[in-house]
Amino acid sequence: MQEKEFSTAFIVFNSISELPHDAKSLMEQAINARKKAYAPYSKFMVGAAILLANGRIVTGNNQENAAFPSGMCAERVAIYQAGSRYPNEKILQIAISAANSTNNLTTPIAPCGACRQAIAEYEQKQKTPIYIFFMGETGNIIQVKSLEALLPFGFGGQYLY
Ligand code: THU
Repeated sequence: MQEKEFSTAFIVFNSISELPHDAKSLMEQAINARKKAYAPYSKFMVGAAILLANGRIVTGNNQENAAFPSGMCAERVAIYQAGSRYPNEKILQIAISAANSTNNLTTPIAPCGACRQAIAEYEQKQKTPIYIFFMGETGNIIQVKSLEALLPFGFGGQYLY
């Protein structure tokens, strides 16, 4: 028997102004996208912005539906848009901001499990890591330098055949 453990490296920025220039402008676009989320049921608004290797930025926000499971998270709206519009372009960075309707959310909100799995797919496809920056409405921003930091024991296509 062996007992082992994972450790996760992450960086904490105190505010958007501390971010590197490209990540700062990416987070500003994620915040703008968040404000346009369609979240009439949960009123939890999420925005995501993706920086591609060609310099283009693709954004997304959560899209809810009266049939609740038919809705989609911001991160997947954005990453599927990037994958469909720019299938050969590497994803360099993703910025995410989330806000609720009751208080000023200062806790950095990491992508949900399904979105982590979706981002993992693109890291494996492109074979290079994706920087992920996430925050609440205001306050600290957390950065991880690969999706793998958020998804230990991840599942991938390498096991299928
Ligand atoms: N949501 C996201 O957009 N991203 C996440 O990572 C977590 C949850 C959305 C889905 C739903 O519209 C609302 O937030 C509440 O779960």
